[in-house]
Amino acid sequence: NMFKAGDEVLAADSYSTVNDIPIEELPLPVDFVWGAATAAYQIEGAAYEDGKGRSIWDTFTHLEPSRTNGENGDVTCDHYNRMPEDVELMASYGMDVYRFSIAWSRIIPLGGRNDPLNEKGIAFYNDLIDRLLAHKIEPVVTLFHWDTPQGIYDRYGAFLNTTEFRADFEHYARLCFSRFGDRVKKWITFNEPYIISVFGHHSGVLAPGRSTANGGDSRVEPWRVGHTIILSHTSVVQIYATEFQPSQFGTISIALNSHFYEPWDATSSVHIDAAQRRLEFYVGWFGDPIFLGKDYPASMRLQLGSRLPEFSPAEIELLRQSVPINTFYGMNHYSTKYARALPDPPAEDDCTGNVEEGPTNNKGEEIGPASGMSWLRVAPVGFRKLLNWVWNRYQLPIIVTENGCPCPGESQMTLEQAVDDKFRSRYIGLYLDAISRAIYEDGVPVQGYYVWSLMDNFEWSAGYGPRYGITHVNYNSLVRTPKNSASYLRKTFRERRVAR
Ligand code: NOJ
Repeated sequence: NMFKAGDEVLAADSYSTVNDIPIEELPLPVDFVWGAATAAYQIEGAAYEDGKGRSIWDTFTHLEPSRTNGENGDVTCDHYNRMPEDVELMASYGMDVYRFSIAWSRIIPLGGRNDPLNEKGIAFYNDLIDRLLAHKIEPVVTLFHWDTPQGIYDRYGAFLNTTEFRADFEHYARLCFSRFGDRVKKWITFNEPYIISVFGHHSGVLAPGRSTANGGDSRVEPWRVGHTIILSHTSVVQIYATEFQPSQFGTISIALNSHFYEPWDATSSVHIDAAQRRLEFYVGWFGDPIFLGKDYPASMRLQLGSRLPEFSPAEIELLRQSVPINTFYGMNHYSTKYARALPDPPAEDDCTGNVEEGPTNNKGEEIGPASGMSWLRVAPVGFRKLLNWVWNRYQLPIIVTENGCPCPGESQMTLEQAVDDKFRSRYIGLYLDAISRAIYEDGVPVQGYYVWSLMDNFEWSAGYGPRYGITHVNYNSLVRTPKNSASYLRKTFRERRVAR
């Protein structure tokens, strides 16, 4: 500890409660768009209706319910049957865009390129898209938000077989572009490849639940899965650019999630390097190949050697050619952590860049007040820094494709208490201030903000505990009640968007 007693200055983001962080409600550009995001498995329910095939999430939640708080997405918000009402809700909030995902197994029940289609599933998404457009809400479609068709997982392990997965994903994407692309102009191939790779195939806390302890190999599988995602993304953006974009004029990219990392000891180069390395292992892993058209970050090659798959010269060429097709960077972001360098050598199954992460630094300061999820701290300063980090590295306009939080104690609240979600409004307000500063003070082109989430929903391994919605959902009656943060968003975007 290099600090002498009495020398400590409070870090800019060491506050005890969210109300202590000054909020300014700074302006945003006139053409800045806002909306809300959801994902199919988390809201649709109707898991076995109208010909939908099973996904690995149907399997994961039922095989060992303890992994998801004893809960599953069989019914969840029943959005599949209540979609018209939900679109009305969005319209009443004044949203410009709505980001949702297509359940692959709802439109190709077994998932593969030679498997039959399910026209009823396709009709559902057509209806949703048409209703959104009728309300002047722009649909933003995620092709893959974690619900791999069980059929392709059983056949070849899905992401574990790069060639097979890529061919099936290309087929599925072509189907979506040809059926929906006349009206959908913004596509996101994969949601959070880091989570798919590491949480699905390393720690195994998310489907398909693979880890060394559970039939997998955590030393190699996450890297192979990541490689499959990068190549599949690249193929699909090429397909979009050559076969569809000339007539459809849309855009396509990917949604990468990351915390921001501050060094555990801000005066030590070891920990400053660790924070940078942690971001490279999180964002650079996918961002460098996709947005720079080159190999994985040098820090990853150095640590992982041959466990990190190689791109062939032809693949590097394909990556290089695909760079300009990605016209925005989709950022899912919630929180900031401190990064502390661990002693070398790294464990063989390390995915972090040999970094320990946590909410407290070497001086015992917390990164920010806790929300309703212990990992999710309110740290808008880190958000602004991540926006800058991404812009400096990739030089692409950024769309914040997810941001939000559950309020502290929200899962225990009565309806009246949950609706009065001042904490969430404040969190959103602070994060929008960070965007405004990034735009006007730092020159980062941020184009939009999608709050996670439109409504409370199934939060994966945490089940129905955490509530992220700007709309409350009663899981017994399925009644939706707007929370105050929905009016806050409506009002703030009405008032804050000004001509420069
Ligand atoms: C990440 C995921 O994309 C989404 O599915 C999840 O519910 C939220 N962030 C909150 O954890």
